[in-house]
Amino acid sequence: MQPQAPRTIIEPFRIKSVEPLPLTTAAQRRQFLQRASFNPFLLRSREITIDLLTDSGTGAMSAAQWAAMMTGDETYAGSESFYQLERVVRELTGMRHVIPTHQGRASEHILFAALDLRGKIVLANSHFDTTRANVEYLGAEARDLVIEEGRNPRSEHPFKGNIDLARLEAALESEGARTACVLLTVTNNTGGGQPVSLENLRGASQLARKHGKPFFLDAARFAENAWFIHEREPGQSSRAPREIAQEMFRLADGFTMSAKKDGLVNIGGLLCLNSDELADKARSLLILTEGFPTYGGLAGRDLAALAVGLEEVTDPDYLRYRVASVRYLYDILDRAGIPLMRPSGGHAVYIDAGNLYPHLKPWELPGVSLCNELYLEGGVRGVEIGTLMFGHPDPALGHDRCAALELVRLAFPRRTYTQSHVDWLGEIVLSAAARRDAAPGYRITRQGAVLRAFTAELQPLV
Ligand code: F0G
Repeated sequence: MQPQAPRTIIEPFRIKSVEPLPLTTAAQRRQFLQRASFNPFLLRSREITIDLLTDSGTGAMSAAQWAAMMTGDETYAGSESFYQLERVVRELTGMRHVIPTHQGRASEHILFAALDLRGKIVLANSHFDTTRANVEYLGAEARDLVIEEGRNPRSEHPFKGNIDLARLEAALESEGARTACVLLTVTNNTGGGQPVSLENLRGASQLARKHGKPFFLDAARFAENAWFIHEREPGQSSRAPREIAQEMFRLADGFTMSAKKDGLVNIGGLLCLNSDELADKARSLLILTEGFPTYGGLAGRDLAALAVGLEEVTDPDYLRYRVASVRYLYDILDRAGIPLMRPSGGHAVYIDAGNLYPHLKPWELPGVSLCNELYLEGGVRGVEIGTLMFGHPDPALGHDRCAALELVRLAFPRRTYTQSHVDWLGEIVLSAAARRDAAPGYRITRQGAVLRAFTAELQPLV
């Protein structure tokens, strides 16, 4: 008889360097949250036990990445670390022009400025918030065309990040002249970390090509997207995630990437393009705002670490563990009946706070309320993705114009927390949920003009 393979999916690494976790008392947390004006963005790291605010730049680098940093070449122009990164990116993506930036939003700003978006439209599955803000800042419309299932938290569709190809075609036909480009975010962060299928990527690429429009990816989580294609898409299970990722990139004319996610680094971004003309414009803007084209806002050691990260991230053992660790928390919460964005996504578990807290109106910010309850319960920090993030004041309504969904995202830093951390997290969420009726609504007492979620000050409604 064959011995049975263990069913547990283990962390495919051992830990070489550790950081203590701050443990706090309930009384301290009440005081810290009050000082932070009830906005978890304004907490300090030493006040947080498990930080699930974001998976961006918060992961652990490997020993190989740290070793590469030691040999990073800090030459201003012509750094060897740049050429090493360029080689890795070209092998992965096939792009002609590899332009490093300090992070994703710099790539977005430079790409959209080079495209001259004034009066134009960008057609996407969903724009991430910095992407939307950059498109709008440059005088264009950011239009989201995600499939219907992608807007329904209860749908189990395996590729809820897909763009609606019929609506994309209709928009290209009726507003072709105003359309600047087509953009697919992989995975679709705004829609719950849900993947885009290869079939959908191929379809969108073909439509864009047919209408003479450039097709770009927002590739922040390209490897997680490739893993879902490997796991869920008919006919793809025999292909390695790297091979799938290679095909994804080759369908595009270029991409922006926040390397702080699937680049497995703490800082960095990429803007990669096939068009010589667009790349020339982008490099001119890069020199103005980021730096010389062979470092683009990063140190040589950052480029070196990114080159290694982009090799490590498509390792099937890593991706299997990554997606399983998110799924592990998802299953704990799902079994307890917590309303979740379905199915389990790539980098985060999204709790449907609007549904968990039916006693709160959307403009009473149920997502903020749940975030604050999780913090008060156990020093866990998540992030609201709802009306605080996407809504805005509307004097005609007498309250904020609200987001479609009131979600709380618990995003997992890469290679950082272990299974016992997640067991503990599950306990915190369940005990906060048990007291759901007592969770207060919130009102905003101070807010900025753009991206208000980062700095808003709030007060509980009592
Ligand atoms: N695109 C996507 C899909 C993102 O998720 C992010 C960042 C960006 C672009 C911008 O990249 O932060 O390097 O400038 N997302 C982070 C998050 C902040 O928490 O989801 P950046």
